[in-house]
Amino acid sequence: VSVLVASEDMGASWVGKLITVCGWSRTIRKQGGGTFCFVELNDGSCLKSLQVVVDKAVAGFDKLLKCGAGCSFRFVGTIVESPAKGQAVELAVKDPNAHTMTILGEADAGAYPLSKKQHSREFLREIGHLRPRSNLIGAVARVRSALAMATHRFFQDRGFLYIHTPLITCCDCEGAGEMFQVTTVLPKVGEKGNAPVDKEQKIDYSKDFFGKPAFLTVSGQLAVENYACALSDVYTFGPTFRAENSNTSRHLAEFWMIEPEMAFADLQQDMDCAEAYVKYCVQWVLDNCMADLEFFDLRVEKGLVDRLRHIVNSPFVRITYTEAFEILQKHKSKFQEKPEQWGMDLGSEHERYLTEQVYKQPVTVYNYPKEIKAFYMRLNNDDRTVAAMDVLLPKIGEVIGGSQREERLDVLDRRIKDMGLPLESYWWYRDLRKYGSVPHAGFGLGFERLIMLVTGVDNIRDVIPFPRYPGHADF
Ligand code: 4AD
Ligand code: MG
Repeated sequence: VSVLVASEDMGASWVGKLITVCGWSRTIRKQGGGTFCFVELNDGSCLKSLQVVVDKAVAGFDKLLKCGAGCSFRFVGTIVESPAKGQAVELAVKDPNAHTMTILGEADAGAYPLSKKQHSREFLREIGHLRPRSNLIGAVARVRSALAMATHRFFQDRGFLYIHTPLITCCDCEGAGEMFQVTTVLPKVGEKGNAPVDKEQKIDYSKDFFGKPAFLTVSGQLAVENYACALSDVYTFGPTFRAENSNTSRHLAEFWMIEPEMAFADLQQDMDCAEAYVKYCVQWVLDNCMADLEFFDLRVEKGLVDRLRHIVNSPFVRITYTEAFEILQKHKSKFQEKPEQWGMDLGSEHERYLTEQVYKQPVTVYNYPKEIKAFYMRLNNDDRTVAAMDVLLPKIGEVIGGSQREERLDVLDRRIKDMGLPLESYWWYRDLRKYGSVPHAGFGLGFERLIMLVTGVDNIRDVIPFPRYPGHADF
């Protein structure tokens, strides 16, 4: 059997077992005047590497002496107690009759860019194809995977259905116009591969595949709302795309979003669900990823684990936009952009002040001025605010944006027109308000920002395997 190299609990109970392991060398050290070698082997299953002790009696030993970091191996050996400190057990590969070593892939030691030392994150970004072999990016990948699992658990356990919403759409959900257009690259008619031809010649597929301009989606919300208005509690979880300025440490051109949508729910229930979901995810990594969290605590952010426990154990602050605005106005002198006018959008300096200076914990701001929020948010009785909410985090800023949706057709139509959007493009969305309209609410959580929260990693480009931002879409 092949086992994960260093499952965290590989300890005394493994001693005496003959096992097969595969992985990549982190270091190789010659010992005893070249009579045996220590190979530090890692397969990405956890931070720890397994120490493999290879004796010169084993076939291929001469070749091993020339190997360094980054080579791939398969070993068959016996787990023994380790005489050295730092690990309970090690793998002995010494008996030529029972044990074997296979060098699967060599690596030119002079050219291999990773070494045992800690590399800068800027450098790691330049080697995006190899950086998953570093401790940092490996740990992020494990936590990211765990958070995807936690997300599905949270919603599935509560009876939400997972709906796959489209990535290609003609509709701008947020109405902000920050979209990537989808164009075709087709072989010419008659050439190899054959472009599709419309026999009635209504559509020229090479120019106009969808019959009208199509884009990569900025959000799955409007689509998932259709399903909420039939199946009640639903969620979508997929990539979303925005052609906005993503030359910052918290924006990407391609990011993943989790968007639940609940029929028969209001803003209060929406905020409750958002808070419960974030806490569930934080608790999940505390329960399932402690070794990686301790690594982040040591290398990335001192006190991370305590901070996460605090998030789980204390309620998020909830304040209205108006209350937030009044607090900011009292401390006007602290900001570059002065909070003078009720109705202004909150900038990141304002969000940071609220979360880092005033409350020192996540803050949910709700009931925003209607002018600064999307057309689909439900108008409040005051006629100047909408039932919107944003969850703000210290250092990271907005992690969640959500709202109760406008379920009244006449009010919705007015909002669409007021915002200068084309009513006819939303005919299907309006139909939901014509046929059995219900109060409903939902939100979108930026998955990468959640990962930043639980790892302490402060640049969004380091929490997604292949970051997309201006000038960067190579591999
Ligand atoms: O606040 P936003 O724009 O909300 C929506 O898209 C709604 N349609 C969601 C809904 O109600 N179903 O985006 C939601 C979240 C933000 O709070 C942020 O965490 C993340 O998506 N986000 C980004 N993350 C990384 N890079 C970007 N460029 C992002 N833009 C938004
Ligand atoms: Mg938002």
